[in-house]
Amino acid sequence: MSNSVKITNKINNFKKTIRVSGDKSISIRWVLFSSLANGVSIAKNLLISEDVLTAIHAIKKLGIKSNFKNNQCTIYGKGVDGYKYKKNLKINAQNSGTLGRLLLGLLINTNHKIKLIGDKSLSKRDFKRISDPLSKFGAKFKLKNKKNLPLTLKGTSDLIPIKYSENRGSAQCKSSVIFAAMRTNGTTIIKAKKSRNHTELLCKHLKLPIIVKSKKYYDEISVKKVKSIRPINYNIPSDISSSAFFIVLTALSSDSELTIKNVNVNPSRTGIITILKKMGIKIVIKNVRTYKGEKISDINIKSSKIIKSIKCPPKLNSGAIDEFLIIFLVAARANGVSKFTKLSELNQKESPRLKWAEYILNQMGIKTISTNDSIKIFGNPEIKIRKKIIIKNYLKDHRVFMTSIIAALSYGGEWEIHDKDSINTSFPNFLKIVNQLKN
Ligand code: S3P
Repeated sequence: MSNSVKITNKINNFKKTIRVSGDKSISIRWVLFSSLANGVSIAKNLLISEDVLTAIHAIKKLGIKSNFKNNQCTIYGKGVDGYKYKKNLKINAQNSGTLGRLLLGLLINTNHKIKLIGDKSLSKRDFKRISDPLSKFGAKFKLKNKKNLPLTLKGTSDLIPIKYSENRGSAQCKSSVIFAAMRTNGTTIIKAKKSRNHTELLCKHLKLPIIVKSKKYYDEISVKKVKSIRPINYNIPSDISSSAFFIVLTALSSDSELTIKNVNVNPSRTGIITILKKMGIKIVIKNVRTYKGEKISDINIKSSKIIKSIKCPPKLNSGAIDEFLIIFLVAARANGVSKFTKLSELNQKESPRLKWAEYILNQMGIKTISTNDSIKIFGNPEIKIRKKIIIKNYLKDHRVFMTSIIAALSYGGEWEIHDKDSINTSFPNFLKIVNQLKN
């Protein structure tokens, strides 16, 4: 019970400026690239959360040292062939799909057998989507139920370049194949549905042999063998996926305004801003600058009295894939019916999120109609919560927890939300920032 949060009051009337923690996708990629660099890399504002610490622990198991001092993380890379493989090596990716999938791409060019395990949530997720393309390079996989963790990998030092079509819009699959291609003689060609492109931008910044041709609906990426990687000092910008909770809280609260400083607004991540603006939410992007190829800005949000419903264009899905739970909360108060389609990937996350979103909305008294990959939300501008809502047993999905907290703070009613530890994977100081807005 002590691991649950009770909320009985809305929050309104705040005017604040905040900073949220470092971007999770960039933090994990920085750890992995730095572990392969020739020499010492330093990151400022690295996200210090379980997912990132798990990545640091994984490279430690591969013989790569690191330390934290004065808010800085240092990694002592040993070059592209610097990993040490102990006998019966077992790596635990805990809750992190990004770490588990990206790491496999880096580990397929060794003849050593490696076991990958994860927590309860990760063990339910699809790893076939990554063992399939990586097998084409010549690696061998054994997966539980042919699909899940635990898996064992036996790679090869003679990787064969491949042609790969990534049709889900999964940046994890695309990035894992890029990592594998970097270890392969010859040229690998990837045709990838658009998705977050932090890996490609880091490769470009490091002048690695990768060429990206941008087409309308997909990118054509060619990758050649990487001989060495220089160290990377990186000042990691704040995470738009963490900012999203406070963007929505501000939009739904009355007489409030919030500025979030130094947020990564890479266009492959800003689906939430495009969608919320279409719904009439007042969001302004300020002080736009570019840092190592990434777009960064401050974001200003104001309370929004009138919210329009939306028929969300599926081309925006990939750029908002982690934000749909929180976007649905806005649709709950819209004037009319909103429809979101082609979202089967939402049920492939830390929990089946489409199902959890529907559960939370229904508990709030909002009518929904859903299929396996779509949801219609019947918005109610006069929404009033009339019963006690308890949220538990959701596989400790951090985004289900944080969405429920924002729902409670925006719509009122009596809420009991379990498993607050879930935020440790991506946003450990989430509740501290909530308290900052209350005072
Ligand atoms: C991520 C990619 C996305 C996203 C996840 C982080 C990444 O997953 O949901 O939180 O850092 O590459 P998919 O690749 O499965 O879409």
